Amino acid sequence: MARITASVYTSHVPAIGAALDLGKTHEPYWQKVFGGYEYSKQWLQANRPDVIFLVYNDHATAFSLDLIPTFAIGTAAQYQPADEGWGPRPVPVVKGHPELASHIAQSVIQDDFDLTIVNRMDVDHGLTVPLSLMCGQPPRDRFEWPCPVIPFAVNVVQYPVPSGRRCFNLGRAIRKAIESYDEPLNVQIWGTGGMSHQLQGPRAGLINAEWDKRFLDRLIAEPEQLAQVPHIEYVREAGSEGIELVMWLIARGAMSDRPPTVKHRFYHVPASNTAVGHLILENA
Ligand code: DHB
Ligand code: FE
Repeated sequence: MARITASVYTSHVPAIGAALDLGKTHEPYWQKVFGGYEYSKQWLQANRPDVIFLVYNDHATAFSLDLIPTFAIGTAAQYQPADEGWGPRPVPVVKGHPELASHIAQSVIQDDFDLTIVNRMDVDHGLTVPLSLMCGQPPRDRFEWPCPVIPFAVNVVQYPVPSGRRCFNLGRAIRKAIESYDEPLNVQIWGTGGMSHQLQGPRAGLINAEWDKRFLDRLIAEPEQLAQVPHIEYVREAGSEGIELVMWLIARGAMSDRPPTVKHRFYHVPASNTAVGHLILENA
């Protein structure tokens, strides 16, 4: 059977992708951000999964106000990096895992979560920046990501967005789906977005480091209680875009009920307009 071995949580700030693509990683400003991922790159090389289930949000790139799926699972064989207005990022095409993705869709939909099935989609910074942070720039002669990726897009852009509680329970259903897949795959689940940030309005630039750090503490130690936090608290305390953090609860809900091992924890302000948060949790 397939199993979830670990979960990874990280911000997905688009400027991080630009810093990588434009060769600015050694500038002092960015060094402080990328320094937090040095261990993570080594860890991923030593703990290479067969598949990554990557929870992220599309930022009006593949979807728009014309079509707003709450939860969308990618069942395609591959996904192109999206053009978000300045050309696609120069990163490899993302290879999918249609068989496992279809199995998860079957299982999770039968468990009463209505997923949108996506057979064609470009993937934006929400998905490619976490891959870059964890994998680094793939070499020219092996220009590919280390393993297949199943994109799982969550609407956190247009209200109504799903509650933390629903996200946590969805994670549990995803765990059950993966654990019933009849092939011994090592699967990691990644939750991306956050941490506190607000990109528009009078409070643009808001960062709440105290709230963010408490979120990390609670995500590790009491995720089910954390999942009860209502939207209004995210918006009030972590800014309008802080709501991206509900996606971390999907990854956390997919982990074992036993306490995880904390392999890595990193927090840094600022990166672009956000606080960068990052965790690696292994299943005991
Ligand atoms: C920024 C951060 C995000 O998570 C995002 O999706 C877009 C912009 C920012 O910090 O600028
Ligand atoms: Fe975002």
